[in-house]
Amino acid sequence: MGFYPEEIIREVRDKADIVEIVSDYVSLKKRGENYVGLCPFHSEKTPSFTISPKKQLFYCFGCGVGGNVFTFLMKKENWTFPEALRWLAERVGVRLPEEETLGKVSEAFKLRREIFEINKMASEYYHYTLLKAPEAERARRYLASRGILAETAEKFNLGYALPDWDGLIKFMRSKGIGEDALLKAGLVIPKSSGRGFYDRFRDRIIFPIKDVTGSVVGFGGRTLGKGEPKYLNSPETPVFNKREHLYGLPMINREESRIILVEGYMDCISLHQHGFTQAVASLGTSLTEQQAKALKRYTDEVFIAYDSDTAGQAATLRGIGILVKEGLRVKVITLPEGKDPDEFIKARGKEAFEELVTSAQNFIDYRLNLAKNGLDLKSQDGKLKFVKRAVLILAEIEDSVERELYVQKISGELNIPRKTLYEDIDKVRSKSIMPNIGSKYKNSQLRDNNKELTKIKIMSGFYEVERNLLKMMIEDDGVREKVMEKLPAYNFIDARHRKIAAAVFEMVQKNDPVTPKDLAVKLRDDPDAAAELANILMAKEKPDGVMIDDLINRVKENYLKLAIKKIRSEIHRAEKIGEIKKALKLLSTYHRLKHEIEQLKSDLTRKGGI
Ligand code: GTP
Ligand code: MN
Repeated sequence: MGFYPEEIIREVRDKADIVEIVSDYVSLKKRGENYVGLCPFHSEKTPSFTISPKKQLFYCFGCGVGGNVFTFLMKKENWTFPEALRWLAERVGVRLPEEETLGKVSEAFKLRREIFEINKMASEYYHYTLLKAPEAERARRYLASRGILAETAEKFNLGYALPDWDGLIKFMRSKGIGEDALLKAGLVIPKSSGRGFYDRFRDRIIFPIKDVTGSVVGFGGRTLGKGEPKYLNSPETPVFNKREHLYGLPMINREESRIILVEGYMDCISLHQHGFTQAVASLGTSLTEQQAKALKRYTDEVFIAYDSDTAGQAATLRGIGILVKEGLRVKVITLPEGKDPDEFIKARGKEAFEELVTSAQNFIDYRLNLAKNGLDLKSQDGKLKFVKRAVLILAEIEDSVERELYVQKISGELNIPRKTLYEDIDKVRSKSIMPNIGSKYKNSQLRDNNKELTKIKIMSGFYEVERNLLKMMIEDDGVREKVMEKLPAYNFIDARHRKIAAAVFEMVQKNDPVTPKDLAVKLRDDPDAAAELANILMAKEKPDGVMIDDLINRVKENYLKLAIKKIRSEIHRAEKIGEIKKALKLLSTYHRLKHEIEQLKSDLTRKGGI
């Protein structure tokens, strides 16, 4: 048996998406940040099988099985680790050393390899046809009419499928490849009359789609003129999923700082031909999370260049959301109405497009501009509506300096005091930031701003402490009463944790057994809390060697710190508007909290904590 180097195993694991792999076996639904489905390892009617995309782990509340993507495949397929690794490596396009020598290869693995081989032959056949076949004259003229140069057709391996019903079938037969194999590769379609097959792509320009390793995973085909559908893609096959691949991605240079994201094959090709070799296209669907993850492996910054019509705007907004969530910086290139990147660059040239790139808007500016749509900012009503929308957008900005800049800008534009804007933003943030703190801070678009970084540290500190304590409360029967005695549920800062703690306490009070499954049922109506519960249970390590009292005290301390901070700003506000009575009342609460935290701290230091 071969031993694969650790870094290769890690690479395979990092490239694989557990959600995608498992969804071959289980129909999954998104719930909060996780996915749930019916457990494939035991029989059940309500889904308790949970996957965390963030942690790339799965866990079943029903039967207690859990693990990572390798564990899943080994259990499900009854594979050894090397078998699972090999299969997964192939699927995510990582080349393993000395594959041949490593013994028996699984069926799925063989099938994928066979399809890759067929796809490669097909793309060569289509390409050769485009270049050489006399019947391809129309196709060559069509490409020329669209301004595609020979070298571009070469670079993208463009091809042509003849109008015949069996051009590819015949060619493949001459190479000893049968129609069953072509069917698996998605290249032929069964005749509706019964027996036999016909070519899927006929009389179309062929765009081979490659994965990041350069293997051909599928094809796109465009009609030469009119005709429906304009574009036809390969169907889903064991190697092709249009939600996962991006056209042009294998050509991207990681050293360059940006990627330009367009909608169409032709846009992508045309930009490359004009020197923008960092262009990629999604495959006729709106951008998916998997594609955003793939982009993230190549770049930190994506420029979206979609059509500027209403549909394009909606797609852009969706794209922004997905890309930002993966931690990418996003800018939006605005094309003149009615032009796509291909049309624009052909009409106006390379420099004009470069100018569009240079003047691309930060995604916040883009969203703020869209928020003005349909509003008359000179009217009282329009102004008010815009401020409402803008506040929601600004509240999402995590970097305080960046937020300040936007507040200044809008306050200047609309002649509204900055303070007023800040008050509204604070309201939104204090509502939304707490329950999401974990995920939000990890994915936020932070620059290297020291202040912000310290903030994250403190935040993730409390987050981890709370999770550790909850994990102990769930897994260790002995500690619950003690926690209940010392810590009310509202002391958990994270709203999801509060919910979980309250549920545990309630079960203890009722003398119900506290099991992961029962807890999950209890939290059914709160997907966020349920997802967080799964995450907590999936966390591998037990908080080893940590004293339960310590954890309790730390959770309390964090809560007190936050409460003190809040009350301090409330006091300031009350003072400013002259509500002295209220300020004084708050002040006494402030002193009480201060006293409590001092006590706690001396407790912790005595025990050698902190
Ligand atoms: P050209 O007309 O050749 O310039 O293509 P385009 O890219 O400008 O076309 P369009 O903006 O209409 O479509 C953008 C992308 O959506 C295409 O590149 C395809 O990936 C996809 N698409 C467009 N039409 C169809 C269709 O009829 N079927 C499918 N499956 N996809 C389509
Ligand atoms: Mn076009």
